[in-house]
Amino acid sequence: GGNHLFYLSVPPAVYAVVAEGLGAAELAHSAGWVRLAVEKPHGHDLASAHELARRLLHVVQEDQVYRVDHYLGKETVQNILMFRFANAVFEPVWNSTYIDHVQITVAEQLGVGERAGYFDQAGLLRDMFQNHMLQLLALVAMEAPALFDATCLHDEKARVLDAVRLRPEDVVRGQYAAGTVGGVHLKGYRDEQGIAAESRSETYVAARLAIDTPRWRGVPFYLRSGKRLRCRKSEIAVAFKPVARSIFQPLTPRDLTPNLLVFNIQPDEGVALMIQAKKPGPKLCMCDLNLDVSYREAFHTDPPEAYERLLLDCMCGDRSLFLREDIIEKSWSLLAPIL
Ligand code: BG6
Repeated sequence: GGNHLFYLSVPPAVYAVVAEGLGAAELAHSAGWVRLAVEKPHGHDLASAHELARRLLHVVQEDQVYRVDHYLGKETVQNILMFRFANAVFEPVWNSTYIDHVQITVAEQLGVGERAGYFDQAGLLRDMFQNHMLQLLALVAMEAPALFDATCLHDEKARVLDAVRLRPEDVVRGQYAAGTVGGVHLKGYRDEQGIAAESRSETYVAARLAIDTPRWRGVPFYLRSGKRLRCRKSEIAVAFKPVARSIFQPLTPRDLTPNLLVFNIQPDEGVALMIQAKKPGPKLCMCDLNLDVSYREAFHTDPPEAYERLLLDCMCGDRSLFLREDIIEKSWSLLAPIL
């Protein structure tokens, strides 16, 4: 008669089987609440995602399902909306009049490691783009939700995903090869244990997207993610346009570095704003000045694990940081032509 949270961190092939088993054992109903937290991947294409949802929703209601994308539990990712909507200075310039382009990068140093079986079936587009990358994009590009609650947030995310335009010719894919980095020899993807010698699964994807809304018309969004890259670094860089005119003759607008706002998602969590400043001294010399804030230094604490927050929210019944089914399906639809 109490509350039950079932957390399905099991092979994806048995998500629905487990849920149906819970249903058959009459564990899907209780006098208290029953919730189902489900790990990613949420399907491997639109049809399988739809089928998974159909089977889960045969056992429980949509508002009982907590579909995980652990990026949404990261402090720095949650902070994007505070940054945009709790400050007066950014939202007025958050549009195509002032922003030149946006770059979203999730670079990993690790290779495929011990997850060959899963990864080689999936590839990076499914593993990182369908979920984490598109979620980061949605947070940067969405309109302000009417309220900071799950329904309003999900509605706005769904709207912006509807406006994303992604053409296969604007996507490149790659696969890491063997090489020597800093004197250390690293295996190529096809040499990794469990990967077929002729595997064509991608370990790197870069894409240029457009968002067809009045706010973003003409602003390219560059997304890239890969395994076994030079360093581990996830960041969102918002590149502003140059100033319209320069009063600092003979410097022209082109001589002044445009502003750059960077959300450092990990590992050095923080936010940085690059501005132009006068170099100290008698001459008029401009220089770049990076206003760089580290969350660790500012808050005197390490950011908590994403899962601490996510599992707590499951228990509290807050679905804001989870994925609604329509958002998952929209993400798969976007990638379908490339897959
Ligand atoms: C997972 C992917 O969702 O995210 C992995 O399946 C990836 O392939 C991982 O390595 C990255 O997560 P994080 O939190 O280490 O950036």
